[in-house]
Amino acid sequence: MRFSERVVLVTGGARGIGAGCCRVFAKEGAYVAVVDRDASAAETLARSLTGSHTALTGNHTALTGNHTAILADVAVEDQIRAAVDRTIATYGRIDCVINNAGVHPPDTPLEKMAPEKVMDVLRVNFLSTYTMCYYALPHLKKTRGTIVNISSMTAVLGQRNSTAYAASKGAQLSFTKSLALECADFGIRVNAVLPSNVDTPLMRDWASSLPDPEAALSRIAALQPIGRMADVEEIGRVCLFLATEDSSFITGQGLHVDGGASLDY
Ligand SMILES: NC(=O)c1ccc[n+]([C@@H]2O[C@H](COP(=O)([O-])OP(=O)(O)OC[C@H]3O[C@@H](n4cnc5c(N)ncnc54)[C@H](O)[C@@H]3O)[C@@H](O)[C@H]2O)c1
Repeated sequence: MRFSERVVLVTGGARGIGAGCCRVFAKEGAYVAVVDRDASAAETLARSLTGSHTALTGNHTALTGNHTAILADVAVEDQIRAAVDRTIATYGRIDCVINNAGVHPPDTPLEKMAPEKVMDVLRVNFLSTYTMCYYALPHLKKTRGTIVNISSMTAVLGQRNSTAYAASKGAQLSFTKSLALECADFGIRVNAVLPSNVDTPLMRDWASSLPDPEAALSRIAALQPIGRMADVEEIGRVCLFLATEDSSFITGQGLHVDGGASLDY
C-alpha cells in the first residue's frame, strides 16, 4: 500500500491512461480524485475503484466512497481551480497531481490546420498542465508532493502531420524541467512520462477512422521493439513510481516508457 492515506488528482481520469493511473493508485491505498469532462464515465470509474480497493484490503466498510469524480473541462481555468478546491474540500490535501488529459487531433498537415485550431490543442494539452500546477502548488507545498505530466515520445522525436500535438507535448516536457527547478526547494518533484503507443480508446478511435483498423493497430504495435503497445496500467505503475519515495532522487526528467520505440524510430 504505497499511497495509503494519500490523495492523487488525475485529469482525464475517466478512461485510457488516466483510468489506468486511477486503478494503480487506488490499489495502493490512495484516495483518487477523478477529474474529467465526461461526468458519467468519471462517476463509473470512481465507483469501480472502490470495488477493487475493497476487494484488495478486505475492509468493505471503511473504504466505501473513498474516490471522487469531479466534472471539469481542463481547457477552462475556473473549472481547474474548482477541481482543486473540491479535492481539498473533500480530502484536505493533495499529494500527487497527474496531468494526463489530452487530445490528439486527426493527422493534418500544417497548411490545412488554421492557427486558431492550434490554440485548442495547446489549451488542453499544455495550458491545462500549467494552470493545474498553478492552483495545486500551494497544496503540494504542504505535503511535499509530486507532479507527473503525461507528455509523449513525440515531444522529443516529433510526429508528421501532428505539429500542434507534438509541440504541445514538447511544451509540457520543457515546462516539467523548468518547474522541477523552481520546486526543488519546496521538496516537490516534477517529472514527465513519455509514452510511445498505448492501447486506449483514443488509440482505438484513431484506428477505427482508417479503412483497416486491425491492420493499423498491428502496424502501431510493431513500432515497439517489444512488439506491442503499452497497457494503460503499465503507464500507471510508472506514475506511481514517480509519485513515491522509490523515485526520491528523480526530478525534472522525461521518462521514456515506450517498449524501446524511441531507439528504433
Ligand atoms: N494513447 C497513446 O498512445 C498515448 C501516447 C502518448 C501520450 N499519450 C497522452 O496520454 C494522455 C491520455 O491519452 P489517452 O490515450 O488515455 O486518451 P483517451 O482519449 O483515451 O482518454 C483521455 C481522457 O481525457 C479526458 N479529457 C480529454 N479532454 C479533456 C478536457 N478538456 N477536460 C477534461 N478531461 C478531458 C477524456 O474525457 C478522457 O477520459 C494524453 O495526454 C495523450 O496525449 C497517449
